[in-house]
Amino acid sequence: MSNTALRLGVNIDHVATLRQARGTAYPSVMEAARQAQLAGAHGITVHLREDRRHIQDADVIALCDWAALPINLEMAVTEEMVAIACLQKPPHCCLVPEKRAELTTEGGLDVSVQLQRVTSACQQLAAAGIRVSLFVDPDLAQLDAIVSTGTAAIEIHTGAYADADTAPEQAQELARIQAMASAAAAAGLEVHGGHGLTLENVAAIAAIPEIVELNIGHSLIADAVFVGLHASVAAMREQMEQVRGLAGA
Ligand code: PXP
Repeated sequence: MSNTALRLGVNIDHVATLRQARGTAYPSVMEAARQAQLAGAHGITVHLREDRRHIQDADVIALCDWAALPINLEMAVTEEMVAIACLQKPPHCCLVPEKRAELTTEGGLDVSVQLQRVTSACQQLAAAGIRVSLFVDPDLAQLDAIVSTGTAAIEIHTGAYADADTAPEQAQELARIQAMASAAAAAGLEVHGGHGLTLENVAAIAAIPEIVELNIGHSLIADAVFVGLHASVAAMREQMEQVRGLAGA
């Protein structure tokens, strides 16, 4: 058990997915951010996708103006997105790979093959005062390239762990995440995690001492359909704090 604080970033993309499904003004992304804050979220995460399928530019502007919680803007490594981030200046940006046809972010950034592009984006964002993280697979072979970009943090893709069909497979994926977290922290990077995390599978990830932030979306919004967003976020926080030994802190 670790007693280091673990932050929860609530990803509210799918509140916007519901809104965009009917082209209505509701449900409100801002109200979701406020509810998440009241339930104890430490940050709000949104992914401005190139196809604008859920979060819109106006949402990013409103969230950055709100500033009641730090905004973590997930975005592809493109000139358009870097320009938007440098203008809106969210405190945090997470660079992710993006494919138009995918349902969600399917894998981590291959930093080695696009080292120059990623490094340049990191430099431009850092110059705008934005703390950058790179969304990467738990692949130690990428670590040197990741460190050389100058990024402040990585977010380890936990999707393969979450999607594992068998216990041995899940244990193997967990071990890869643990090894990546430990090596990245030793290299001076802040370590985050996210993707596919639920109340049922979060404990083993929350127990990794080097991880200081989890970004969770789909399961929180899905649970909110039945219990409300405040309750789903509060339950996740409680679960994370129990693992870290901070319940009631
Ligand atoms: N982190 C990143 C970089 C993501 O792209 C996503 C999905 O948008 C998440 C975390 C959250 O994943 P999930 O919605 O499965 O909780």
